[in-house]
Amino acid sequence: MPRTHDDPDRLVSAARSEDENSFELKLRPRRLKEFIGQEKAKEQLAIALEAARSRGEALDHVLLFGPPGLGKTTLATIIANELDVGFQQTSGPALQIQGDLTAILTNLRDRQVLFLDEIHRLQPVLEEKLYTALEDYKLDIIIGQGPAARTHVMDIRPFTFVAATTRPGLLSSPLRSRFGILLRLEFYTDDQLRYVVERSAEVLQIPIDQDGAAEIAMRSRGTPRIANRLLRRVRDYAQVRGSGRIDRATAEQALKILEVDAHGFDELDRRLLLTIIEKYDGGPVGLNTLAATLAEEQDALEEVYEPFLIQIGFLDRTPRGRVATRLAYEHFGLPLPRKQTPLF
Ligand SMILES: Nc1ncnc2c1ncn2[C@@H]1O[C@H](COP(=O)(O)OP(=O)(O)O)[C@@H](O)[C@H]1O
Ligand SMILES: [Mg+2]
Repeated sequence: MPRTHDDPDRLVSAARSEDENSFELKLRPRRLKEFIGQEKAKEQLAIALEAARSRGEALDHVLLFGPPGLGKTTLATIIANELDVGFQQTSGPALQIQGDLTAILTNLRDRQVLFLDEIHRLQPVLEEKLYTALEDYKLDIIIGQGPAARTHVMDIRPFTFVAATTRPGLLSSPLRSRFGILLRLEFYTDDQLRYVVERSAEVLQIPIDQDGAAEIAMRSRGTPRIANRLLRRVRDYAQVRGSGRIDRATAEQALKILEVDAHGFDELDRRLLLTIIEKYDGGPVGLNTLAATLAEEQDALEEVYEPFLIQIGFLDRTPRGRVATRLAYEHFGLPLPRKQTPLF
């Protein structure tokens, strides 16, 4: 049985506990100018927002994509705030029956934002139903049953559809073409994450200095959600074992106890890389084989773990499978394998 990736105590986990949800809500920037980094996406969005506002029209539909924890949901709420319109949220897995989607669409208010998370998990029949709604603000409704059934076309209010996905490659091209604004979120730099940590510390009234914030930022895998998670855990340590104030030494000690290493790897990152190196001679090894060996879900590896390992150059995705790079060997202090020359 593959382990599901839903343990909110895990550093890299995509799942969140109730407690963390309310904590995230508190830390979520509300305005575009409070949103740190992602300059390209912000610029593109700022222009589109201003244009829509000056025309008094609904903003074009927006697709947000990138790894978990980089700010997709946050940006969706910011869009509604900046437009000063209503916000309603649902997700691909939550929408199960046509009637639910019809009800949501027919109850839309003028120019509001409808946010659909994990759109890559939306059922194909519902996806098709969305097309005319997105294109012409119209909805086909079937009235009656059997031979007496008639299709009725209903107008809905102009609205802005904002969708988020960690897997843009899984969207069909007709669906992708419905979005006028495509925003790709990137991993954050250490400096940007330091701002995230400092901002969160201010909101939570945690005393921290620049070095302490930098130490947390460095180990946050380019991800604000993880930076906030680490800040919370380091705060606990500082309160129980230290003076309550987070400086570099306190952060270092806390992170050592939490077993967060210099790259913010968790146990699965290490297991993943070491498996490729030790069991598969550095690779290439196919993703499904790797997932089976690790007893982990393929999706979690592909959506949550691999993007960061690839970004920092520890892992390569090749047509023949995953490969551990020289940096990965160096990180673990292991000698590079002497590859045999292929025989022709
Ligand atoms: N650019 C940012 N600036 C400040 N905080 C951010 C930023 N992006 C994300 N965060 C923080 O990280 C948390 C996770 O962001 P979220 O929007 O839920 O990510 P996603 O939906 O992409 O998984 C938010 O609660 C927010 O506090
Ligand atoms: Mg989200």
